[in-house]
Amino acid sequence: MLRIFFLLTAALPIALSAQNYSVNLNDVKAPIQPTMWGLFFEDINRGADGGMYAELVKNRSFDFPKPMTGWETWPKRVRDGVFIVTGDMNPDTKDPKWMTVTTRATDTVGLINEGFDGIYLKNGLNYTFTLQYRQIEPGIHVRVFLFNTSNRPIASASITLNASSKVWQEQQITIIPGDSASKGKLLVIFEGQGKLDVDRISLFPTDTWQNRPGGLRNDLVQKLADLKPGFLRFPGGCIVEGNQLVHRYQWKNTVGPLNQRLLVQSIWADDVPNRQTPDYMESFGLGFLEYFQLCEDIGAAPMPIINCGMSCQFDAAEIVPLEQLQPFIQDALDLIEFANGDVNTTWGAKRAAYGHPAPFNMKILGVGNENWGPQYVERLDLFTNAIKEKYPFIQIVNATGYSRNIPVFTYMDSVLRKRNVDIIDEHFYDTPNWFMSNSNRYDNYDRKGPKIFVGEFAAQTDRIGSQKNVNNLIAALSEACFMTGLERNADVVTMASYAPLFAHVDGWQWTPNLIWFDNARSYNTPSYYVQQLFSVNKGTNVVSMTENGKMINNLDSIWASAVIDKKTNELIIKIVNPSSADKQKTIEVPNLGKRSTAGIVTTLKGEPGDMNRLQKEPIVPATRSVEVKNKKITFDLEPWSFSIIKIRL
Ligand code: AHR
Repeated sequence: MLRIFFLLTAALPIALSAQNYSVNLNDVKAPIQPTMWGLFFEDINRGADGGMYAELVKNRSFDFPKPMTGWETWPKRVRDGVFIVTGDMNPDTKDPKWMTVTTRATDTVGLINEGFDGIYLKNGLNYTFTLQYRQIEPGIHVRVFLFNTSNRPIASASITLNASSKVWQEQQITIIPGDSASKGKLLVIFEGQGKLDVDRISLFPTDTWQNRPGGLRNDLVQKLADLKPGFLRFPGGCIVEGNQLVHRYQWKNTVGPLNQRLLVQSIWADDVPNRQTPDYMESFGLGFLEYFQLCEDIGAAPMPIINCGMSCQFDAAEIVPLEQLQPFIQDALDLIEFANGDVNTTWGAKRAAYGHPAPFNMKILGVGNENWGPQYVERLDLFTNAIKEKYPFIQIVNATGYSRNIPVFTYMDSVLRKRNVDIIDEHFYDTPNWFMSNSNRYDNYDRKGPKIFVGEFAAQTDRIGSQKNVNNLIAALSEACFMTGLERNADVVTMASYAPLFAHVDGWQWTPNLIWFDNARSYNTPSYYVQQLFSVNKGTNVVSMTENGKMINNLDSIWASAVIDKKTNELIIKIVNPSSADKQKTIEVPNLGKRSTAGIVTTLKGEPGDMNRLQKEPIVPATRSVEVKNKKITFDLEPWSFSIIKIRL
């Protein structure tokens, strides 16, 4: 008899190793907040300028510290005095430089713009060319050319200027390339005798997101929309703080007409050794109105983060004296009015004048990015009191520095808990192993304390800050393990976002990132698909899922969680197998109705080191059906996989 048993077990290794998981539909736990899975946006890695903001001309207004950055003259050795950069000394000006072009009757000269590592041009697409100018001595004619990668013209157009205009004005034309180019150029030619001041020289494709003139890159915004994000945190990240206070993010300088938006040097221009990008400037063409509008478009709750009177503490670590903090606090109050105020309020009226009379219904505001220490606490208190007094409904996000359980974090955590703040922001950049072994992090958090926003997280395959970090499958699976723990603890964790969001393949400072792109194309990383599978399968309430009464949190190297969706009447199970073993499991759902006979499984799988690329995405989710028999699903958990099982209840 014993022999027969051994023979059977040898012949049926999978069937006999099958274990039972149990989902209890009657044990309905925390509601999952609509905000649960969201986005962290920062202009890092060319996320905005040279990325999602579709402007193709670099340094369009000559306002970069070196005003010819991105430009060269044509011919290269042009007569002295033809092109002169003029700087306005008025301290209030936000658009301080322009180019004065002075030509003789026989001159044919020009300015070439290289774009952001080349200009991607699409055959047959309409492009809008804009020139801001004023006549000093009328007589100059302007022509515009687009060149392909081998410097051959693929489009040309003439622009008719108003000869009598002595004040700044704008002229637009449409130009259509007769061919495509991956690294094209723009040439603006000046001919005939005269003197002309030129400023914003701009080129936009017309196929932007929602076809908005001067808008955002369609493919990149679509990727955000496809994540169905619960919130969008913007504008960062370290750019909120700036490497020095003068470079901090000031939202009021990012709204209104483009020439009212004061360019600043990005903290990412020189903060990363070996990846210096001195020409990384923030033009704020993508400014706060556009961020709010983006949130509205993609159905995400807006979550702006504002500077708290401190610059980056990894950098200059400047602080604003407390007695000079009031303008910073006023910026926060004005921001709430800008987002939510009636059109009769000062800032509500500005929002309406800029094209959006309807309020944005902002409910969450972050004060400080990765700030910490007693100086932060002192400033935070002043912000909090002022905001709560005027807008008690605003939920404030409070920083804890760079998190993990180091003294910086534990100090902030204890202070913030004593104050019983609304939301604590925790950030994690660590190894895949760390993410797997910390998926239980929130199991013992105080259920009555502040809510947690896991505001930045991403698995680092090498180490934090390393340029060797890659977006491979094992990193994504480890994040999925961690996220099952966030989901199980949805009563405490109400928001989470991967960081950073975007990176240009030729212009990044930080890796890994969720979405990579070049000037023409973009691709999703395995981590993107993990975020998406969680987000589109968010559900409304956690239900218990156990094995022999234990949570499935690294049980036999499996992580799992389950939710129901009361709106669609579905059970959704998330299950991660970050190991090389194929495992068969049976999931019992005792309260399942008789008519639930099949489910849908969506699986992301591959080899642990697999990555997606611009040319090819081998790691994408695939869907199949699964049988439900006698209230049981027998399910093959493939090696290195993350699956979602959905059953209509
Ligand atoms: O996500 C990249 C950076 O990491 C963010 O700017 C900062 O908040 C964190 O240190």
